[in-house]
Amino acid sequence: MTEPLNVFDYEALAAERLDPGPLGYFDGGAGDEHTLRWNVEAFAHWRLRPRVLVDVEACSPATSVLGQEVSLPVLVAPFAYQRVLHPDGEPALARAVEAAGSIMCLSTFASATVEEVADTGVMRWFQLYAFRDLGVRRAVVDRARAAGYSALVLTVDTPVLGRRERDFRTGFEVPAEITVPMAGHGAVTPLETSKLLSASVTWRDVEQLTADFGLPVVLKGIQTGEDARLACEHGAAAIVVSNHGGRQLDRVAATVDVLEEVVEAVDGRLEVLIDGGIRRGVDVVTALALGARAALIGRPAAWGLAVGGEAGARQVLELLRAEIELALRLVGCTSATDVPRDRVARQDR
Ligand SMILES: Cc1cc2nc3c(=O)[nH]c(=O)nc-3n(C[C@H](O)[C@H](O)[C@H](O)COP(=O)(O)O)c2cc1C
Repeated sequence: MTEPLNVFDYEALAAERLDPGPLGYFDGGAGDEHTLRWNVEAFAHWRLRPRVLVDVEACSPATSVLGQEVSLPVLVAPFAYQRVLHPDGEPALARAVEAAGSIMCLSTFASATVEEVADTGVMRWFQLYAFRDLGVRRAVVDRARAAGYSALVLTVDTPVLGRRERDFRTGFEVPAEITVPMAGHGAVTPLETSKLLSASVTWRDVEQLTADFGLPVVLKGIQTGEDARLACEHGAAAIVVSNHGGRQLDRVAATVDVLEEVVEAVDGRLEVLIDGGIRRGVDVVTALALGARAALIGRPAAWGLAVGGEAGARQVLELLRAEIELALRLVGCTSATDVPRDRVARQDR
């Protein structure tokens, strides 16, 4: 292959580089992987409606999320065990995100410490799973807060872990030398991590989390208007429309197809973000038109990291930035903060 030109090129290069175990873990989804595929495919069922003869000479992909200025409307989603992809792991991705001027969400199951990532100077949020043990939760959040993480991203789609059959087939295990400091563990398999999670977490815990730590709480994994309304009522600062990249409940709808329902339910009361299947700048612009404040990428960042460490991840973000700018201009918009709803229409399948 010549220079990778887009995220799909990075996907192919990462697939060549990774062994079957890690490849299945990072690329795979739950069950028959319908939702994994739908997340990507669904974007192409939204048609762009460009307006012409608009002066788009000046055009900015910058926006703000929870009051933080970002230079493009793409954040990096939390994903586990980044040292499995590249020896430089989370700190390398953090440097790439910092250089791109965006926000990194660090996973609870990161293979680096919160301090190592904080030392890169990146704008950072900390992703939290609902731990069974409240003492562990407090210790983990206190440490992240002390290291300057400015929001808590509570993942709410994982009371139990989805069944990812690729991992059973390959017998994927995190290599023994890779540790997961925040979970207080040495090497843990993905299945072992699930034993740490609480399946009895409820809306009361969301209120508790907000009250206990004084940080904005972002709920990641909202997929219905009903839950979006409850999120507003229980003090969330933002929500991420997400199905965990198709890794939890197979056959839930593609995230872009539930985005509008969520945006309407929220009615401006909090910021709505989206992840799942974002591979192109036009995907991001579609999400913005449907009312998302910004989008998050998981696997694209993973592929960039696997292929070229910090530089690879940086390149993925820059490719997306260029695609977003191009799409904004060609759809007749000059800012990522102002993409009207009428710039997209749903095409019946
Ligand atoms: C390998 C992998 C590990 C993940 N680990 C976490 C995690 O630790 N915490 C979390 O909240 N989400 C996790 N996610 C979900 C991502 O945050 C995100 O929702 C998803 O990757 C978005 O879809 P995309 O990969 O199509 O961009 C993980 C996703 C992948 C692919």
